[in-house]
Amino acid sequence: MRPPTDNTWRLHTICPYFTRFPLRFPYERLRRAHAGQWVLDPFCGSGATVFAARLHGLGAVGVDSNPVAAVIARAKCCRLTARAVTAHAADILTDTRPVETPTGPFWEAAYAPEVLRALCRFRAHFCAGLKTPADVVLAALLMGVLHGPKHSVIHCCSNHMPADFAPCPHRIMADWSRSGARPPHCDVYAMIARRAAYLLAAQPARTPGAVYENDSRSGCFASHRIRFDWIITSPPYYGLDSFVADQWLRHWLIGGPAQPDKNAVRQIAQDTPEQYVADLATVWQHVATACRPGARLLVRVGNLPGMDAPPAVELLKHSLRQAASGWKIHTCRTTKPPRRSRQPRAQFAAPAPWPENETELYAQLMP
Ligand SMILES: C[S@@+](CC[C@H](N)C(=O)[O-])C[C@H]1O[C@@H](n2cnc3c(N)ncnc32)[C@H](O)[C@@H]1O
Repeated sequence: MRPPTDNTWRLHTICPYFTRFPLRFPYERLRRAHAGQWVLDPFCGSGATVFAARLHGLGAVGVDSNPVAAVIARAKCCRLTARAVTAHAADILTDTRPVETPTGPFWEAAYAPEVLRALCRFRAHFCAGLKTPADVVLAALLMGVLHGPKHSVIHCCSNHMPADFAPCPHRIMADWSRSGARPPHCDVYAMIARRAAYLLAAQPARTPGAVYENDSRSGCFASHRIRFDWIITSPPYYGLDSFVADQWLRHWLIGGPAQPDKNAVRQIAQDTPEQYVADLATVWQHVATACRPGARLLVRVGNLPGMDAPPAVELLKHSLRQAASGWKIHTCRTTKPPRRSRQPRAQFAAPAPWPENETELYAQLMP
């Protein structure tokens, strides 16, 4: 069973995200959902669950504490024309007020001067807040072309870089100086127009719901009057807490600092397995209060290779028991993680090696 073969899935490719799970996972599970049911992902990342729900015509709420993830996921809830996005980009570019431009060897080596100027113009606009759907889609689209490998199908603005995370400046600069790689000269507006035409050619119908940049431990989703029937999610894998730092360049584009932000905030605790379990338990408690009895919870987890930690599925089961909220575990199934992108990641030292196997746990909320 595959996601639709028409072009309505294209919006899902608006911007890569390092830990994204395959759209097929939530899409297949939600085939069993009924009209009018609601879906929640308390760790929505780049919004695969939210988008799969939309493809099925279901309402959905997503929450992620990473501002980059929240913008990408919000874009997947929007419905607007390519023309609206390109017209908005043109308006922003005609603004002539001075904008702040970062300086230094990284920026000179990463972007051609006219490209950096255009990016800074957009950044200045985004710093005032993403107020409209056109702002959100434009920001997510630009984050998607902000960096990536040379000679990839999607043309990117940067010197040779990975697409789904941004390495530390000193690492990537050493790489560029070894290889003599130079930043490409490109017309950012033309890139936006091309990409918007592709991504927005066909879109699923609008469905109710929203994505929030928030900490799921706060239970922000439980204050809504919505009662959820499906939770499909993937919490941060134990040992991986660099979601914001790994996306530092995209974060910069929407207003973050001009270097990796080591003090990533509002993440599930990773210091000890006990803290991790306790934090997850808090989230499952809030989720239970926001669900209808009988709600189905599908969680995907895995162990990062080389981490000295208990099996991820045991931590997850422990957290569900600790939540003591009525989650009854039905099955745990081992699955192969999706093949990661074919870009030459080895060269870029990925934030973490990916698990060999992942486990999909299915639980249900008992009345
Ligand atoms: C494994 S990723 C989810 C990937 C997602 N399934 C996708 O398809 O893109 C886990 C996510 O949890 C987020 N996260 C970590 N701690 C959080 C918290 N306390 N509240 C909300 N989100 C959190 C991270 O920012 C990250 O995006």
